[in-house]
Amino acid sequence: KNHLFKIAVAGTGYVGLVAGVCFAEVGHHVTCVDIDKNKVELMKSGVSPIYEADLEELMQKNYAAGRLEYTSDYKSAYREADAIFIGVGTPEQPDGSSNLSYIAKVARQIAETIEKDCLVVVKSTVPVGTNDKVEQFIHDFLPRDGGKPTGNGNGVGEDIRVEVASNPEFLAQGTAVRDTLQAARIVIGTESKWAENILMKIYEPFNIPVVSVKRRSAEMIKYASNDFLALKISYMNDIANLCELVEADIQDVSRGMSFDERIGSKFLNAGIGYGGSCFPKDTKALEYLARQNGYELKTVKAAIDVNTSQKTILFKKASKRLITFNGLKVAVLGLTFKPGTDDLREAASLENIPLLLNQGAEIHAFDPVGKSNFSKEYPEGRNGKGSIKYVESIREALEGANVCFVFTEWGEIKEIQPEVYKTLMRIPLVYDGRNLYGVQDMKEAGVEYYSIGR
Ligand code: UDX
Repeated sequence: KNHLFKIAVAGTGYVGLVAGVCFAEVGHHVTCVDIDKNKVELMKSGVSPIYEADLEELMQKNYAAGRLEYTSDYKSAYREADAIFIGVGTPEQPDGSSNLSYIAKVARQIAETIEKDCLVVVKSTVPVGTNDKVEQFIHDFLPRDGGKPTGNGNGVGEDIRVEVASNPEFLAQGTAVRDTLQAARIVIGTESKWAENILMKIYEPFNIPVVSVKRRSAEMIKYASNDFLALKISYMNDIANLCELVEADIQDVSRGMSFDERIGSKFLNAGIGYGGSCFPKDTKALEYLARQNGYELKTVKAAIDVNTSQKTILFKKASKRLITFNGLKVAVLGLTFKPGTDDLREAASLENIPLLLNQGAEIHAFDPVGKSNFSKEYPEGRNGKGSIKYVESIREALEGANVCFVFTEWGEIKEIQPEVYKTLMRIPLVYDGRNLYGVQDMKEAGVEYYSIGR
């Protein structure tokens, strides 16, 4: 029989909520804490605040079974917990560093609340060394007896033992539940057998290989993994741009590369750069960390540079072909940074649409789920010199358009037949940032087609 724990999870964003639900799914008793009362009510009613396959179903199932609770009363949740997982945001700041104020706030609440031994586990992505600081911070704020620390000198409370462990998260949006329940590995970073033991037991029911290392190495594994993937994408984009110049085809090139197991077949797709909440942030954060330590992290810097210019590569290409976008009907297919999510963070659409609007484009945008988030930033109607209209179908977007941009590889966009572009658009001119269609097929259908690296 598995050893079951009482777990509290701070923050119900992607990281916190998915972790909480999955811990409940394997049998632990989980309380998810969020300061947003409306969000808590929403979750109690079985509605997920994020768009994620399988999540709602598991939320409802485990809530009904009494293993999963939601509250904005952090005190009762932390007081009863054997382990508290922190999954709050660490947003990027203008200089590339991470904002740790949410982590600090939770750490302080924990210190001021807990009454028994407790392992605090940082799941949020944090710069190497942060876990040490969080532990110190918690100890600084632990209740003191008559003004004197009640600690026993080992950095451990006399009556209660509080330690901090690192347990980075590797889930991708859109596949978060699967990525958690069937993760490739679980990384834990601890400084004592006691902490290691608790995490080993919590993860035992998952049946997934555990990589147990020291805290700082665990923190680094997260950055090194994400930045490696970002680097892989930027490398392919760099090669793709060269392929265009020397008339090679990046898709053939990546296929040829993929058979080598040392290279692997995944994350070799050239396109309009990586977006999302992780790669852009984690590359800049590691680069910043290096700089702070007097080191220049050249490879990651190159990944960032390539990605920045790659995001607007379609606009640059189209600007060579068209005198202006002023008064042109521009079809935009896909707004989110990738399919399967309504997340717009660092999406290429957010870089290109302002450039188009600034030239007076009349944009007709289609995205199966991204419209409502996008319209918060760019409301329907006039936007500066241009305008934007959110349409419900691909047909509406394409009809009478002078040019089309494809930013996201949603299934329904992938399935568009070349003839559809030809018949619906006023001028069948397509800039595809995701290499969704055959170059020859588009040519045969009479579409003027530009993609990446082909
Ligand atoms: C990523 C990591 O996959 C995950 O392990 C980590 O924990 C968080 O960051 P996510 O950002 O959700 O997850 O999405 P992912 O599917 O990895 O895609 C990130 C970006 O890279 C997307 O914009 C995608 O379009 C782009 N990408 C991905 C490419 O351009 N080419 C590829 O071959 C793969």
